Amino acid sequence: MTQRTWPNVTIIRHPVVQERLTWARDKRTGVEQFRRLVGQIARLMAFEITRDYPTNAVCVETPLGPCDGVAMTRGLTLVPILRAGLGMVEGILQLLPSARVGHLGIYRDHDTLKPVTYYNKMPPDIARTDVIVIDPMLATAGSLTAAIDLIKKTGANSIKVLCLVAAPEGIERLIAAHPDVAVFTAAVDEKLNEKGYIVPGLGDAGDRLFGTT
Ligand code: PRP
Ligand code: URA
Repeated sequence: MTQRTWPNVTIIRHPVVQERLTWARDKRTGVEQFRRLVGQIARLMAFEITRDYPTNAVCVETPLGPCDGVAMTRGLTLVPILRAGLGMVEGILQLLPSARVGHLGIYRDHDTLKPVTYYNKMPPDIARTDVIVIDPMLATAGSLTAAIDLIKKTGANSIKVLCLVAAPEGIERLIAAHPDVAVFTAAVDEKLNEKGYIVPGLGDAGDRLFGTT
């Protein structure tokens, strides 16, 4: 079956990512391994999405003489959506240790599926940085759309989304609301079920990360 494509959505098909995502989806994968896999996938994906990150020319002295090199000078802010986005932070910070981290607490109301925001703490200089919003699941996109609405209110205007699994319905909704935001995902699945879960997906990401069924 041919997969649908969208201009501002990149599917990271690297086999190392895809194999780990397959292990994470497996219902036999327990909390410890699931957590490790989510961190590893996030780190690998962050490597890919920072491919075009701006650099400045610098010069260092090797033991044998001067050498031209680069420095990544633009600030970066990671914004995990609690809870499940937290599972991706450490993995990305291993790659980008100087990134700031803003936290957004948003959960979906179980009956309405509408996002409820309960926490918002952003770095003061976020508007001067590139922002990566992280959440493993892009389902109806209510949570990510609300998160980006809040982030844009700070003045930030360079925003990317990093997720593991997305539903086509959610992608449509997110890019309609925020056409300027680039979305990076490891998979676009078939659909949402009647409860707003991604099928086949990987289940409830927060519950699988934190052992709260
Ligand atoms: C999950 C997930 C996303 C959201 C995706 O969080 O981590 O934030 O659902 O769904 P949406 O695209 O339809 O908004 P959840 O609401 O389960 O919160 P929790 O991690 O705090 O339990
Ligand atoms: N949130 C999840 O954790 N999983 C889904 O499939 C949808 C929303």
